[in-house]
Amino acid sequence: MARQKKQDQVFDHDFDGIQEYDNDMPSWWINLFLITVVFALIYVLWYHVTPLGDSSTVKYMKQVDPNYTRLPEDQGINLMDLVFKPEHTVWHDPHPEVTQATLFSGQSLVAEVEEVPVDTTVVMLTGGADISAGKGVYDQYCFSCHGRVGEGGIGPNLTDEYWLNGGRFADVVHTIKKGVPLNGMIAWERSINPEQLMQVASYVYTLVGTTPPNPKAAQGDIYVASAE
Ligand code: HEC
Repeated sequence: MARQKKQDQVFDHDFDGIQEYDNDMPSWWINLFLITVVFALIYVLWYHVTPLGDSSTVKYMKQVDPNYTRLPEDQGINLMDLVFKPEHTVWHDPHPEVTQATLFSGQSLVAEVEEVPVDTTVVMLTGGADISAGKGVYDQYCFSCHGRVGEGGIGPNLTDEYWLNGGRFADVVHTIKKGVPLNGMIAWERSINPEQLMQVASYVYTLVGTTPPNPKAAQGDIYVASAE
């Protein structure tokens, strides 16, 4: 074979006295490479283009639900979608209206936060056990921002009659539940259970009218329950 003749011929250059042969790759190596190419083609067609192979999502769904029948969108990334449905691709921007400017102004975030109406049916807990359980929650999660006894710090003073987010008991429950994420108060419904939430809200409400040392200056609007 013509190829064989080249075997073990050296290139006519050297690097610092090091010379190299100009041999072909071994045929087993090239064949292995071609096999991986063929495998990849079959794999892509099998799992991503045709509905023959189950994606891991579909396999999982079948395990969970024996009666599961596959929806087209469960197939994972369908290569055909890249061509025909550009909105399924990673480079598709679903919110063109959100720009860096709107993000930094916080406007788009505000728009995204779902407005949940305040649940006015909540009733403050008054039992001693609930109040002390509420104090336990407060001492664990809240005091770092609102002070040992609600005098305020990073967060507002909770002992005065001024409120940024409404001073009815229902408003306080709502604020704790949903938070004011843009101002640094997280939505506590994700971290504490509904019972703890009512307990800590009730405890906080008992702090109103107390006179802690070093109170933080009042913020927001005055609300006096008895004036209603
Ligand atoms: C990381 C700091 C931080 C922690 C921890 C925190 N808060 Fe807040 N909280 C804030 C800030 C900041 C505000 C003010 C939000 C605003 O500007 O409207 C706030 C507001 C509030 C308000 C409304 C006050 C008002 O004037 O309307 C209540 C009630 C409240 N927090 C209760 C809690 C409770 C209960 C916990 C614990 C479960 C807690 N907070 C934990 C920072 C915190």
